[in-house]
Amino acid sequence: MNEMSTPASDARAGHNAPGSVTLTLDGTGRSVTLPLIPGTMGPAVVDIRKLYSELGIFTFDPGYADTAATESKITYIDGDAGILLHRGYPIEQLAEKCTFLEVAYLLLNGELPNREQLAAFTTGVTRHTMIHEQLRRFYDGFRRDAHPMAVMTAVVGAMSAFYHDSLDINDPEHRRISAFRLIAKVPTIAAWAYKYSIGQPFMYPRNDLSYAENFLYMMNAVPAEPYEVNPVLARAMDRILILHADHEQNASTSTVRLAGSTGANPFACIAAGIASLWGPAHGGANEAVLKMLAEIGHPKRIPEFIAKVKAKDSNVRLMGFGHRVYKNFDPRAKIMQKTCHEVLAELGIAHEPLLDLAMELERVATQDEYFISRKLYPNVDFYSGIILKAMGMPTSMFTVLFAVARTTGWISQWKEMIEDPTQRIGRPRQLYTGAPLRDVPPLAERG
Ligand code: ACO
Repeated sequence: MNEMSTPASDARAGHNAPGSVTLTLDGTGRSVTLPLIPGTMGPAVVDIRKLYSELGIFTFDPGYADTAATESKITYIDGDAGILLHRGYPIEQLAEKCTFLEVAYLLLNGELPNREQLAAFTTGVTRHTMIHEQLRRFYDGFRRDAHPMAVMTAVVGAMSAFYHDSLDINDPEHRRISAFRLIAKVPTIAAWAYKYSIGQPFMYPRNDLSYAENFLYMMNAVPAEPYEVNPVLARAMDRILILHADHEQNASTSTVRLAGSTGANPFACIAAGIASLWGPAHGGANEAVLKMLAEIGHPKRIPEFIAKVKAKDSNVRLMGFGHRVYKNFDPRAKIMQKTCHEVLAELGIAHEPLLDLAMELERVATQDEYFISRKLYPNVDFYSGIILKAMGMPTSMFTVLFAVARTTGWISQWKEMIEDPTQRIGRPRQLYTGAPLRDVPPLAERG
């Protein structure tokens, strides 16, 4: 047995204590002392960079549950305590006191903007909201029933073929302009993906509207008549964007970092992030929640569905429940739940059957031993799907909206990585369990 001198419980309690971990390889008499690196908050990390050169072994951590792949100053999560901070500020305060563009500025630049900085940033974003006219033609190449995430992945990736003047990742000005372009253009690309799917004309962005208002406008307006943006819905949309803006090293952000570590341009990296977000275990969960609720159909069928979820090897999951990091509650879910009720009240929906079903499902699941013992609680997507549905957003656009919000986090994380002088190409190792070395037999001798 190899033994580590620091038990996990001590590491959690004394997370900022300096020190080291000594690892001994049984039967060889060889050992290595690895430094512990403290963060400003959260558990310290063991710096294993000398492990292979000293002991000739790798670490094994499929899913990276215990592995810090990078250092970051952007977002902090304490999953047990249900804490989410951006640049030190609690998500609850940001959602209450800031707009999405203030949060975007914070993520990108490290501090909240003052009045002048915010005005300049807002102008920078709004001046980039239109997309190259030739990119319009891309839409015609898709089937009308294409999933808008497929369109998003393709059109955002195609941006690298259009904006050659901001592709030098080593030039800070290029990085700045690319960030503006991505944050500004993704709502336009997303809304056009929707308009294309329903055969309506594309609506060009309006720079007199806020980021959230403009997105609602491009999604819902038609050229034939005026469109008034409902302020309560715009505020709810802004809050949804804030709550999805960043979430440290999740699957899609890690994908963006890994792609970016090769020196790929930011548009290609964000397209990779969008592809990674698409899956139902990640950003696709909000869409999956709605599909699940439709499948359950009625509160009386909840016990039957829960039984299916709990059955061994059923492969059915309660969508919108559980999180890799939050093992108590998801702080975003609490804010989302409140916003959900505000939106339903504004829209005069006293009893939305789907919401009643969702609330009953939440009540049943949160009292069930299966979910309690596994620390499975509603996550942000459990409620966001319901709000978006009430706002009239088509289900297929839910994950797209998540991608619009998360673009800010992705580009902030990408920028942080490029500006880190210690950054190297991301290249995980593996535990090989395939065939040992062997010779290729002639075709006639193969069984
Ligand atoms: N429903 C039922 N059982 C679940 C669920 C769920 N939603 N989530 C986890 N479990 C069970 C697993 O079956 C496992 O049980 P076991 O110990 O008996 O085998 C145990 O809980 C631990 O599950 P893991 O898969 O190890 O948890 P992991 O951290 O890898 O997965 C994830 C996290 C992917 C979010 C998972 O909880 C899930 O699939 N949830 C549903 C999808 C979802 O809502 N995703 C959105 C995440 S939030 C976001 O992306 C914004």
